[in-house]
Order: sequence, then C-alpha cells, then structure tokens
Amino acid sequence: MEEKEQIRKLRTQLHDYNYRYYVLNRSDVTDEEFDRLMHQLQELEARHPELFDPNSPTQRVGSDLSEGFSQVTHRYPMLSLANTYNEEEVAGWYENIRRDLGGEPFEVCCELKYDGLSISLTYEEGRLLRAVTRGDGTRGDDVTANVRTIRTIPLVLPGKGYPHQFEIRGEVLMPWSVFEEINIERQAAEEPLLANPRNAASGTLKSLDSRLVARRHLDAYLYYLLGDEVPFDGHYENLQAARQWGFPISEGMQKVDTLEDIYRFIAHWETARHDLPVATDGIVLKVNSGRQQRTLGFTAKSPRWAIAYKFKAERVCTRLNDVSYQVGRTGAVTPVANMDAVLLAGTTVRRATLNNEDFIRSFDLHLGDYVYVEKGGEIIPKIVGVDLTRRDAAAQPVKFVDRCPECGAQLVRYDGEAAHYCPNDSGCPPQIKGRIEHFIARRAMNIDSIGPETVDEYYRRGLIHNIADLYDIRIEQIDGDGSRQKSARKIVNGIHASLAVPFERVLFALGIRFVGETSARVLARHFKSMDALMEARLDELLEVEGVGRVIAESIIRYFRNPDNRTIVERLRGYGLQMALATSWQQGLTHRLEGQNIVISGVFEHYNRDQYKALIEQHGGKNVGSISSKTSFILAGANMGPAKLQKAEQLGIKVMSEDEFLRLIND
Ligand code: IVH
Repeated sequence: MEEKEQIRKLRTQLHDYNYRYYVLNRSDVTDEEFDRLMHQLQELEARHPELFDPNSPTQRVGSDLSEGFSQVTHRYPMLSLANTYNEEEVAGWYENIRRDLGGEPFEVCCELKYDGLSISLTYEEGRLLRAVTRGDGTRGDDVTANVRTIRTIPLVLPGKGYPHQFEIRGEVLMPWSVFEEINIERQAAEEPLLANPRNAASGTLKSLDSRLVARRHLDAYLYYLLGDEVPFDGHYENLQAARQWGFPISEGMQKVDTLEDIYRFIAHWETARHDLPVATDGIVLKVNSGRQQRTLGFTAKSPRWAIAYKFKAERVCTRLNDVSYQVGRTGAVTPVANMDAVLLAGTTVRRATLNNEDFIRSFDLHLGDYVYVEKGGEIIPKIVGVDLTRRDAAAQPVKFVDRCPECGAQLVRYDGEAAHYCPNDSGCPPQIKGRIEHFIARRAMNIDSIGPETVDEYYRRGLIHNIADLYDIRIEQIDGDGSRQKSARKIVNGIHASLAVPFERVLFALGIRFVGETSARVLARHFKSMDALMEARLDELLEVEGVGRVIAESIIRYFRNPDNRTIVERLRGYGLQMALATSWQQGLTHRLEGQNIVISGVFEHYNRDQYKALIEQHGGKNVGSISSKTSFILAGANMGPAKLQKAEQLGIKVMSEDEFLRLIND
C-alpha cells in the first residue's frame, strides 16, 4: 500500500478507536495495539511532512509551541443566561413564554448546567476548523491547539449526515477525579491548591503549552448547535443528531411539556448531580422549537427562550469545637477548624480551613460557635458565617497560637503577609520532613523508592535530619536484622540513581522558598552552576528574567545560612549535579542575544524542540506569536498564510532553516 494511503487509513482507524473509547466508553482494541498503530502513524507522518494535518490523531498529544492566542470574532455572539433561584422564578419565566407565544403549545428541553468554560467549535466538511473561547461574548481566544488535545472532542466526525459547515457550543470541564489528583500533588508540594474545577479547566485551556493541556485530561459536553443548515427545528432533536455524528452530548437531557415535569427534573438532579463525574451548578431550560425561539428572541444579554436555574450552594450549620494548627514545609502555620461531623453534599465534613488569623478575626470566631459551612464549586469546605443567636454568653474568642504547636518556637508574622511562620526551620519536625519530602518528589530528585511514611520512620529513628543525610543511609541501617535486604537495597539504589538528576532539578529540590520549577530552570540556565548562583549579588539575580525581588531575596537568605551551605557542599561531595550538563553548554554563543524568534512550519533537519533549544543555547528567546517585537521568523515548510501575511505587514524577516543554521554555526 502506498504510504499516503496508509496514513489516511491509520488516521481514520485511530479516530474511530478514540471515538469508541472516549465517547462510547467502549474499547475494541488493546492499549498496546493502539500505541503500536499510533506509533506507526507518527513515523509515517514524520516521513511525509507534506501530508501534515492538524486534525491527525497524532496531534492530540499537543506541542509546547506557544502560538499565543489570536482573537476571533464570533459569527453569532455568545450570550449568557438569565438566572433563577427558585420554583416561583421558573414559573414566572414559563408563564412569560406561554404569553409571548400567544398560548401556542410548546416543549421545553431540560439540561444540566455544566460548570466549566464555554467553547465554540466550528466544523467544516466534518473536520474541526476552530475552537474559540467565549471571551467577551463578541470576540474570544482561538484555543484550537489546546482543544485538539481533548479526547472527547472529535477532530474528524466519525458519523454521517452532518451539514457542510456548522458551529457547536458546549462546556469544557475538568473532571473531579483529575481535579482531585492535581490537588493531592499540589498539596504534597505545598503549592497553592486549585480552587475549583472551573478555574482549573479555564486555566488549563488558556495555557500556552498544549502538552500540559493534554496531560490534564479535560472533558467536554456540547449543548447548542448553530448554523444555516441544522437538520431539525427542535433543539433536542438536533443534539440527538449531533450525538450520531460523534459529539459528546449529555445523557442528562429531557424534553418535557409541563411545568411539573420541569420541577421533577430539577428535584431529581438536585441530588443525582453529586454522582456525576464533572461539576454542575444548575439546570438550563430551553424552549425546544427553533421557530418559537426566533419568535421569543433575545434581550441585550441573554435569550428569552432559555433560562438557568441555579442549584443552591449547599450549606449546613455545625458546632466549632476547637482549632488546631498545621505546620507546613515552609513553616507556614495554618489554622484548621474541628467541628461536629455533618453531612454536606454527599460527604461527611469535620474540618474546614480557617486560612489565617485575619480570617478568624473577620468572623470574630468563638469556641463553641455554630458556624455555617458551604461547599460550593470548591472541594474543601469553608466557613461562610456564624449563627450569633446561638453563641454562649461565656464563649471565648479563638486566639491564634503564638508558639509553634510542633516545636514550641515563637511564631513570626512578616510585614505584608497574612500567614504566621515558625522560624525554627532546622529544628521543627514537619518542616524538616516536609523539605525531605519535597526533595524526593517526582518533579524534584524523583527518588520514588521512598515515600512520606519512610521519611517519617527514618526521621523518628534518627537516620535522617536533612536532605543530605539521605545519601549517608546504608543498607545495614535500614535492614537491622537482615530480613529486608531486597527492599533496603532498592531504597539505597533509588537514592543513588538521583545523582544523575540535572542541575536545574537539584536546584528546585533544595526547596528554597519561592524558587519553583520554572525559576529553578531559568536560574540554572543563567548562572550555569551552583557556585555562580551562591555568589550572585542581589542586582545580578534581579537581572534574570522572571526573577523578582521576592525570589532574589529568598535565594540570598538561603545561601547566607551556613547550615544550608554545609548541606549543599555535602550534596556536592556525594556527586549531585552542581552545574549544567556539558552537552548543554557546548556550542553556547551569544549570537542570538536579545532576539525574539518565532518558529513556524515543518522542518527538515531538526524538530521544533531542538530548534527551540538551539535558540536558547545561543542566547535568543523563542516567542509564540508574531508582533512588532519579533526579530525574525524561523520558517519551515507549510508556514500558515495568515502568519506569512502578518510577517509581511510588519516587515519581519522570514528565515529559512538553512539560513538559520548558517547564522548560528558560522
Ligand atoms: S446554553 C444562548 N446550555 O452557562 C444559550 N449553557 O450562564 C447559550 N452552560 O455561557 C447557553 N451548561 O457556558 C447552555 N446546558 C447548557 C449549559 C450552558 C452550562 C453555561 C454556558 C453559558 C453559561 C450561561
């Protein structure tokens, strides 16, 4: 078979498997077979850049090309919905419809209101052309590259009978399971938690790195079909057709013709929604007939033919028994409310975060108070008020601790910060253990032969007191009686393997406050070695792009501390990477210093990632979108016409691959 034909066949086949798996929840192929076919397609596509197709199943993995986002004007504005909060308001809307339709019978389509971010997808000849966010309703961001990574959204429609051009709108969502998983990871790394799946989905979809989007496993439901040639008059019928074409359409949808049926639908989902894999915040009611919708029309902000009914945020009242305090890796002390157990939105709640002293003050909380607890879109319950009528006359106000509950040190509160800190970083157990846990984490030294329980055990047994002690652990120490030889060896080997971890991650692993993964990377590339970084002055640190005063001062503070210097020296002695790998430094020049370079098209000699690395190695900066600040465009084959035009307009040089290579190798 000709390779071109092979590519076509594989694309169809993989699209079909994806559709069965992600939309129909069926699997007709083993994972290995799927991977094998995908791999085969990737190889064929690499050999045939001229057959590149942004809708190929291989494109689902995303690229880290930050194309920026261009803005697109919606063909039909994206309106919002008027909200109602109780049955009377729903009845009011229903009566208005009856009146405005002159008493004509009408049907209502009842749907779930998904709580994510809305998206508009345009398809032409059954292929995804564009995906645009709501934006301001008139114009939105073109997020096509990111949306392509959402597995439930078809890139090429598997069904038949769709119009040649149409738009379909819906909601992009982060499933609870993904949301919870990310927060567990963040909690372990003491990073701020994502507030709710909606923000998380929105932040993800607007990320410039589509590989990150692909990893986050977003989902989508579509709920509105538009276009000049939609098949039916009925909205419900159109969505059933769209399901046949291959779109993810909610099963929680019902067509009714009485107000009582609407109430029943609401009552059912008010509780059943807790079993759904994604967040919902209400019900949407839509007059079903397109003809009647046109009769009813729109107000300036929303259609008259549709309305949202918002679920009540679930709120319960329970007793605050006492306040305990948690100390994190950085020494930050977080107050936690311990309450009488109470059932809230399907789970038993006993604890709620109180954030900090100001939060406690703002409610003037007293011990024994009856507090209102809510769980909105958030997963962590929060206190939203106090029932003052039930406060005992003798109740004592909650007083923030002034000593560390773990080590007894006097707490400090820095200017401008809401949190209290335990300053005893080298003697306070949760801080010590927290730093070690951070050090071994996957994104840091990736020592997966030990976990938090082991860290706790070794700490209690006096084996480790800081991160450097890890490298001193010997098999005999772990395996006192010789019964755990195998696992002890595995642990020690795992620790030893981390000597290969590159410098930038070693730097991140140290756990210097405010130095996250990204700043560690730029610092490593800028200073190139631990020695240079340790000696850097404040002004030198501030020169690094993305390093502000807070980070710079924290680095200075860290290395000023002799204990930290000792630890770094010990790590160096064990053989950890204390400088950028030489392969990175080789061929380093300043030839592209100060240049902003856009990469576009398909390349012959190196792939995009390699070109990106080359640009950085030679002091340049890879940027996502063309602007007047762009120095030149490194263009491969098939550069998009819109980009070419923009480059011409702005008079920006378009450089070929060969020219570029000559420039840096000369
Ligand atoms: S229909 C003109 N249906 O709610 C009508 N919207 O507050 C367009 N939403 O911006 C919207 N689930 O993001 C519709 N089943 C559903 C929905 C839904 C969630 C969102 C959508 C919209 C917002 C309006």
